[in-house]
Amino acid sequence: MARDILVTSALPYANGSIHLGHLVEYIQTDVWVRFQKLRGNRCIYVCADDAHGTPIMLKARAEGIEPEELIRRVGEEHQRDFADFAIGFDNYHSTHSDENRELAETIYNALDAAGHIAKRTISQAFDPDKQMFLPDRFIRGECPKCGTAEQYGDACEACGATYQPTELKNAVSVLSGATPVERDSEHYFFQLADFEDFLHRWTRSEHLQEAVTRKLDEWFEAGLKDWDISRDAPYFGFKIPGTDDKYFYVWLDAPIGYMASFANLCARRDDLDFDAFWKAGSEAELYHFIGKDIVYFHALFWPAMLEGAGYRTPTAIHAHGFLTVNGEKMSKSRGTFIKARTWLEHLPAEFLRYYFAAKLSGKVEDLDLNLDDFVARINSDLVGKYVNIASRCANFISKRFDGRLADTLDRPELFERFAAAADEIGQHYEQRRFAQAIRTIMALADEANAYVAERAPWQLAKEGGREDELQQICTTALALFAQLTIYLKPVLPETAERAEAFLNVEPLSWADLATPVSGTIRKFKPLLRRVEQPAIDKMLAASQEDLAAKPAPQSEPAQDAQTDAQPSKAPGKKEPDTQGAATDTIDIADFAKVDLRVARIEAADHVEGADKLLRLTLDVGALGRKQVFAGIKAAYDPAQLEGRLTVMVANLAPRKMRFGVSEGMVLAAGDSPHILSPDAGAAPGDKIK
Ligand code: MSP
Ligand code: ZN
Repeated sequence: MARDILVTSALPYANGSIHLGHLVEYIQTDVWVRFQKLRGNRCIYVCADDAHGTPIMLKARAEGIEPEELIRRVGEEHQRDFADFAIGFDNYHSTHSDENRELAETIYNALDAAGHIAKRTISQAFDPDKQMFLPDRFIRGECPKCGTAEQYGDACEACGATYQPTELKNAVSVLSGATPVERDSEHYFFQLADFEDFLHRWTRSEHLQEAVTRKLDEWFEAGLKDWDISRDAPYFGFKIPGTDDKYFYVWLDAPIGYMASFANLCARRDDLDFDAFWKAGSEAELYHFIGKDIVYFHALFWPAMLEGAGYRTPTAIHAHGFLTVNGEKMSKSRGTFIKARTWLEHLPAEFLRYYFAAKLSGKVEDLDLNLDDFVARINSDLVGKYVNIASRCANFISKRFDGRLADTLDRPELFERFAAAADEIGQHYEQRRFAQAIRTIMALADEANAYVAERAPWQLAKEGGREDELQQICTTALALFAQLTIYLKPVLPETAERAEAFLNVEPLSWADLATPVSGTIRKFKPLLRRVEQPAIDKMLAASQEDLAAKPAPQSEPAQDAQTDAQPSKAPGKKEPDTQGAATDTIDIADFAKVDLRVARIEAADHVEGADKLLRLTLDVGALGRKQVFAGIKAAYDPAQLEGRLTVMVANLAPRKMRFGVSEGMVLAAGDSPHILSPDAGAAPGDKIK
């Protein structure tokens, strides 16, 4: 009987580009969904952009645009990237949508009515300059335990200690450099502990992978804590019903975005009923594919929210590990922080789909993209084995038999054996053991090639006289090729389409494994090209260029910053987002606000403990003397700088840094970077107009 299945991938944040790490998840989910569809199940795959939260608000501000404008632009970019990787969403929506607002309010009201929401006043770090509360990741200071400098407000990357941001020593706001003050505010909490029994049962009954259950045990032992679901203005999100300055924390409405995206689809499709999938007791299956960093949200908060608000809970959560490239964390400096778009500019999307599939075990393990192995694997498996079967036989059929396939096979038992592998391969796909599915499929491809080699149709063709036999051999090979195409179709949907066009058949499905292809084929065109090393090199170089094209990195965390108050998201797991080369125009009045002055560098000194900074003492004529910390250490020997003229922004708000206060900014260009100098004749303090 056909199953009803609803599948989701985690919703990507609307403030950064899709990269290969993300794609581990979207490709894994898409392969599974395509497999279900191929089998004839009704499987619906929905996703959305995760559009709320402080980093998105701040990024829009930095670009001088409304958050709505930012999330629209990024949402479109995401959807183009996904489409080009053949991620076949049935719907892609946004958490900043009417459906999501309504559902978030409904769920919150239900939880509140049932007594699961508590209110209490807490004291939090507040930026007096920016007049806003600071998420943990927007505060930096010295670790209270080991003293390491420049640590975020939630945990120390050096010693692993976790703490409250108020415990940091010499803390500064990443946004303004100001010293945070403590301020009281009323917050709303979801009382997770109300669901302890339910969660205990739920997490133990086949819904989770073993490694996840083990992790949850640790969390249970530590005790389920109340979850802070409110944020104060200014915030980009939904207002909490009954308040006028409290917003839902982004992670409250994010998973509800799964429902909202589905609701949005239901409105367009008569055959889909929202309640049939979401009401308590629903028979439909519901799966969430996620990365290991967001398990806490999906395996504890989310089922508890659904249960508490009277909805069905997920059938299972499928967590995957993180991507490494050449054995290491993706790195911008090595060029291995590769964006989806950069990949597409140099290599076919399906090659990445194949490689990831060939490595995905269904466990929560990390996955490595080794680029040498990648090249070898694609060329050997896809070009050397799979496509080779067709390319060695197609022309005989085309040239000698007018494209007509034989009515009988040369070796029917081989075809039957290929068909009989359906159960095993299907089980592997179903259980997300894609690596094993691929291994089994490639073993069949080896057999098919061995068969062709043994029967050597080219030999027969040369000798002549045994035309029927030649036609049957080539037909058998192409029938095996068609079976392999079906097996690979969840992974390589576009190649499968080209193969179907060549075989001149309707879209193949799982049921077609039992019947050999027949009729007339079309002329064979190469289905896939080999990967060559230069394409890889260019992609890596382009990934490094991506970085160089960006403005000097700001210390402000963006993507990572969504992680405040997330118990399971280890800090520093993901590279901070350095997006946002703002090229928007400003008018002359904006420019006039910038006080640019000629300055003489009186002294330049190394700063102890700083890798990139020099301390400059600047003579700015009538404006007096200013101290500026400039990130130019890599490019200059301090001695060279003394006495030189340069250009500075003199009216930049002073910024308290770990080493002292910086009272302006020296203008410098390029990556290296080079400081700007006025022509001879300029004098310290001259205003630049
Ligand atoms: N917005 C949240 C998810 C909300 S779901 C209700 C989020 N977004 S994300 O953009 O940071 O990540 C989206 C998904 O991609 C997550 O499942 C995350 O684990 C996954 N990955 C992000 N970087 C990854 C790697 N480097 N490797 C593998 N998966 C990665 O979290
Ligand atoms: Zn420490």
